[in-house]
Amino acid sequence: MLIDTYGRVATDLRVSLTDRCNLRCTYCMPEEGLQWLAKPDLLTDDEIVRLITIAVRDLGIEEVRFTGGEPLLRPGLVGIVERVAALTPRPQMSLTTNGIGLQRTARALRDAGLDRVNVSLDTLRPDVFQALTRRKRHDDVLDGLAAAREAGLTPVKVNTVLMPGLNDDEAPDLLAWAIAQDYELRFIEQMPLDAQHGWKRDGMITAGDILASLRTRFELTAEGQEARGAAPAERWLVDGGPHRVGVIASVTRPFCRACDRTRLTADGQIRTCLFATEETDLRGALRSGAPDDEIARIWKLAMWGKKAGSGLDDPSFLQPDRPMSAIGG
Ligand code: GTP
Ligand code: 5AD
Ligand code: SF4
Repeated sequence: MLIDTYGRVATDLRVSLTDRCNLRCTYCMPEEGLQWLAKPDLLTDDEIVRLITIAVRDLGIEEVRFTGGEPLLRPGLVGIVERVAALTPRPQMSLTTNGIGLQRTARALRDAGLDRVNVSLDTLRPDVFQALTRRKRHDDVLDGLAAAREAGLTPVKVNTVLMPGLNDDEAPDLLAWAIAQDYELRFIEQMPLDAQHGWKRDGMITAGDILASLRTRFELTAEGQEARGAAPAERWLVDGGPHRVGVIASVTRPFCRACDRTRLTADGQIRTCLFATEETDLRGALRSGAPDDEIARIWKLAMWGKKAGSGLDDPSFLQPDRPMSAIGG
């Protein structure tokens, strides 16, 4: 079991498969991209499957989420999913993607055993999409979403970050669209994890702003905390249901006390928190021939050091060196 000194148990493992991405979202990375991790530093497919096997078999992990960068850019993704689906106990498996390429791979991912996907989409307007992501790929994302729904990778969730002056007037339109398409929409407060370190609390759109904007067109009823469990998203029934909308308010309403996560980066580092400033190296242990029980021991020890919270409200808060695209969100 992966337990920390606050009694939280991690049952959800987020695995970043690459730090590369084919978009350049302004709240994430600069136009020119970043210094990507070098190939020899990346875990191989075999190393990833071995670590997930230890996590599931020996450490109580029940759900595995593949992230990036953009995880669909990892050539071995389908094979990794297939091998993880064969584990006992079989974990739940999901993918968080920008949707580009999903049109081609949704069916194969489903057949390999993937359960569901979350797709990032911030706007319904192609011109705003291009301003936000610096790429003309809006149609690809919409096609990817539809393909995921058709392939049964459901519920398909859509993640939206609202940026002032760009798409902050779109919340009600996005919700009407998501309901019509049968996607579950969640709005995410922008977090200080951008590579440019440009985040400002004053500039961000808060959960309060989002809810006020949605209530101009919809009636929202809060779902109880019980239904939420350890999920980052708080959810509201829309116009009495059955559709819901979520808000992930990591900044103004942090949910760290219920956190059930542990993270593995593409270069084999354990992160106990999105905002952790320290990491624990598993790649070195793997490559020096450590047996499974030693890997499990290192992982347990790392989680024992997990901090109480993100520290966002501390005056001494420091943004981690590793940006969102290399952590995996
Ligand atoms: P499901 O609802 O189970 O599908 O997962 P999720 O919402 O946790 O996953 P997703 O990858 O779609 O993440 C949505 C947003 O939540 C992203 O912006 C993540 O960075 C954020 N998020 C995920 N895990 C954490 C966490 O542990 N802490 C905080 N503060 N935010 C998180
Ligand atoms: N703050 C909040 N969410 C972010 N994402 C990327 N960068 C940030 C940020 N700085 C979102 C993406 C994706 C999810 C994994 O995280 O839009 O939906
Ligand atoms: Fe790529 Fe996601 Fe960063 Fe956008 S937010 S540039 S899709 S990693």
